[in-house]
Amino acid sequence: MNAPLTIVILAAGKGTRMNSDLPKVLHPLAGKPLISHVLAAADQLKPQRICVVYGHGGEALPVAIGGRDLTWVRQEPQLGTGHAVQQAMPYLDMTGICLILYGDVPLIRAETLRQMVLIAHQGALALLTVTLADPTGYGRIVRDGHGQVRRIVEHKDASPEQLAIREVNTGILCLPTIKLAGWLTRLGNDNAQGEYYLTDVIAMAAAEGERILPCHPASEWEVMGVNSRSQLAGLERYQQHHIAEALMAAGVTLIDPARLDVRGSLECGRDCLIDVNCVFEGRVVLSENVTVGANCVLKDVALGPGVEIKPFCHIDGAVIGAKAIIGPYARLRPGTELAEAAHIGNFVELKNTQVGFNSKINHLSYVGDATVGRKVNIGAGTITCNYDGANKYRTVIEDEAFIGSDSQLVAPVTVGKGATLGAGTTLTKDAPAGELTLSRARQMTIPGWKRPVKK
Ligand code: UD1
Ligand code: MG
Repeated sequence: MNAPLTIVILAAGKGTRMNSDLPKVLHPLAGKPLISHVLAAADQLKPQRICVVYGHGGEALPVAIGGRDLTWVRQEPQLGTGHAVQQAMPYLDMTGICLILYGDVPLIRAETLRQMVLIAHQGALALLTVTLADPTGYGRIVRDGHGQVRRIVEHKDASPEQLAIREVNTGILCLPTIKLAGWLTRLGNDNAQGEYYLTDVIAMAAAEGERILPCHPASEWEVMGVNSRSQLAGLERYQQHHIAEALMAAGVTLIDPARLDVRGSLECGRDCLIDVNCVFEGRVVLSENVTVGANCVLKDVALGPGVEIKPFCHIDGAVIGAKAIIGPYARLRPGTELAEAAHIGNFVELKNTQVGFNSKINHLSYVGDATVGRKVNIGAGTITCNYDGANKYRTVIEDEAFIGSDSQLVAPVTVGKGATLGAGTTLTKDAPAGELTLSRARQMTIPGWKRPVKK
């Protein structure tokens, strides 16, 4: 059995450059908070415990991330990264190892961290470093003549020669907890920022002859932190690019991979086609051969095989059967269930409504709180009047009914099987099966009527 692993996520800092009331680590990347990405990577390592050090923004962070088994450690005031880790020490198992992550470095991969955990299990200190074209702002990795890491010098404390070093500290390290605990008690704050630097433990480790093994991420993006909204936007684009590549590799055609936004999870069967500027939120599942036209927003929906979504649709909380055709300009709200081969056309809004096999609602209609049977045709401009200002009622339209254009169905009301409603009907009582029902003032013509003329 390996020694227990505890992960400490640092997230107490101010995030001044975000210029925001929202704690930095709650800003979303690909639809979920920065810190949730870090937690997802942490979970993959199956740690015994995850501690989150928080402070700036007060309880907003634990409240937002509630419902998880996390150890929340408040750091108040925030006196630096070393001070932050000190606050978590009472919760750490001294027989184990400790991995330190940053809440604002969201794209770190579990594979990278696993290598570091292995090193720490062997009693050494694993330090994640990266060589950057522009190392400005980062702590520099100072090595000796044999290439051994000796210390980390923060940018603000560095000499001109040290500033020329391009290998930098990512902040992520992994080491035996007992050693970390000892070094932390010896940290001082005699530096340019007057802070307790976690990075000072490296020099202590080196002086004691500990093995310090630098590890490197597969890509620079893995260790990029978010300090500003501009950096957040940069990471968002990178992440979307990554998602787009994975979808294409899985057999999805993206008309332009740079114009796709997945803010949750998107699962696609083979041979789906997604046109430009579509946004996917929550959990979206497309079966095979689904086409999504340009400029659609899909949230928490499941689409059956061969469904065609035409451009400019907004679909939220819907389940859609095979070969249905939707849009352009359709709005499907939560509780919409379409059976196979249903057709929903332009400027049609559905809510909490089930539509049966091959039924059509093709133009300018609102159908809410309704059950629509098979092979029903609902004409243009039909409205279910489902709400009396206080309560909502259901409309039932049975199989093969035909609803004439511009009808209002005042719920609760039922249209029987095979019934026909004349155009313009205001239906307030049930329409019997198989019959024609209409409510309409009789048409008349006034013979010889003359238009008024200007006096
Ligand atoms: C830190 C490292 C630097 C490294 C850089 C990588 C130190 C002293 N320096 O610098 O070597 O190159 O990260 O991005 O560690 N935090 C707290 N409590 C605090 C201070 C910070 O929880 O009192 C958290 C922040 O929320 C953030 C992380 O620690 O998630 C890093 O803090 P930050 O102030 O960004 O450190 P840097 O100056 O960037
Ligand atoms: Mg930083």
